[in-house]
Amino acid sequence: NTDLSNIFVIFGGTGDLTYRKLIPALYNLHHENQLPEHFAVVSIGRRDKTSEQYRNELVDSVKQFSRFPFIEEAWKTLEDRIYYEQFDFSQDEGYYHLKEFLQQLDQKYQTNGNRIYYLAVAPEYFGFIAEKLKIHGLIENQRSWKRVVIEKPFGRDLQSARELNQQMIQVFTEENTYRIDHYLGKEMLQNIMVIRFANALFEPIWNHRYIDHIQISSSETVGVENRGGYYEKAGALRDMIQNHMLQLLTLTAMEPPINLKTESIRDEKVKVLRSIEEFTKETVIKNTVRGQYGPGKIKGKNVSGYREEERVSPTSTTETFAALKLHINNFRWSGVPFYIRTGKRMPSKSTEVIVQFKQLEHTLYFKEYKDYLMPNLLVIRIQPLEGVYLQFNAKQPGTKNHIVPVKMDFCQNCQVGSNSPEAYERLIYDVMKGDSTLFTRWDEVEYSWKLVDTIAEVWQNQPIVFPNYPSGTWGPKEADELLHRDRRRWWNVGEGELMKL
Ligand code: BG6
Repeated sequence: NTDLSNIFVIFGGTGDLTYRKLIPALYNLHHENQLPEHFAVVSIGRRDKTSEQYRNELVDSVKQFSRFPFIEEAWKTLEDRIYYEQFDFSQDEGYYHLKEFLQQLDQKYQTNGNRIYYLAVAPEYFGFIAEKLKIHGLIENQRSWKRVVIEKPFGRDLQSARELNQQMIQVFTEENTYRIDHYLGKEMLQNIMVIRFANALFEPIWNHRYIDHIQISSSETVGVENRGGYYEKAGALRDMIQNHMLQLLTLTAMEPPINLKTESIRDEKVKVLRSIEEFTKETVIKNTVRGQYGPGKIKGKNVSGYREEERVSPTSTTETFAALKLHINNFRWSGVPFYIRTGKRMPSKSTEVIVQFKQLEHTLYFKEYKDYLMPNLLVIRIQPLEGVYLQFNAKQPGTKNHIVPVKMDFCQNCQVGSNSPEAYERLIYDVMKGDSTLFTRWDEVEYSWKLVDTIAEVWQNQPIVFPNYPSGTWGPKEADELLHRDRRRWWNVGEGELMKL
């Protein structure tokens, strides 16, 4: 269906996500002339306010969070199409009225009955809202499309994810369900496939013959901020590894898809998840590390520990750091470990995939350098700097045969004027187009929960002493040992370690 016209219905219209991400993304799309001509927004919230008041509130969020300057006329033409509807989505009554209202807007904006239902609410309401939409006839009408967008968490383990999915598929087909993983909206994630499959230089060596290991790391300086309530039940494993980190892993490790169609790409990603060597109790104990930040310093400022955060238990055993080593059992990756790490309150914010190549067997007359010769590294920088960095060895100018590491660096967002679209911008646009390539398919969710459940279960039954890393450090010492044991080390790119060369 190539008809992009639609009404964008937001449940949770006065929530953080709407103010910080959704409305600014719509403004960005509008600024880029990417919104369909026939388009309107209906935001639903419990609080009593008029559309007028609501629009005024949005001005600040656009000013603060949009990547384009606020232009009065541009905003005016968008805000005229934004409506606020007050009702409690957990009650029946509002839906009847909503249906009528949307039909009126269909007339006014010629939106053909097409809908995007964006559920920016707590996940326990997903199933409920979907059911109400169905009962009240907000899904029917064969000649139009109805799509639903949901945000993580898709459950908190495999079982709850399955229950949630069961509820959703009563109403929306898999094809019309868009599960957001905002990492997939990031430019450099989309670039991983291009870097791998459009370069004669990289593709032939992207395997166990040449690659020693791969590190996938995402560090944040922030703590849990005001999300203690949610985070206590999640932790780094569920919050970051189950989704974002595994997305990075599948894109890095997948086989070339047979074509660029949505399902072909997703099939290959799922194959990676299915090929991950299953964890056992022993390998969880040996190959995973968890941590929780204590008080410390971030950029010279004192910060408190996790257990002192709002809505966090003073004896909490929730992890704010997780690291693991895993293997992918297929021909390409035989014997190549993947190390994954993520944590809050670390020294810098940075996400990257680092491919470390094997050393040459013989370094000829450079034998005496063998022990400290730097390995070749390919670093795909996801954020905040976007780019690709290649480190290799060269001769230091001079009369001696000194070898030094040098770099070739493509920095995508160093050049003035390059302004990558926001993840949400790209993703919302794709929902309008009906392209679900950058969304998570159900079986991806299922396989990633299987992996996470095995680890979580062992962790739950193993005592742990928390906190075990001070804020502002790279996590517990066990995380370093995980690599030292294999005679390897983490590259802390975010600290500028490699970039200084
Ligand atoms: C979210 C997590 O999905 O991703 C947060 O719930 C985390 O805890 C965030 O901070 C990180 O996203 P980004 O885009 O800042 O790397």
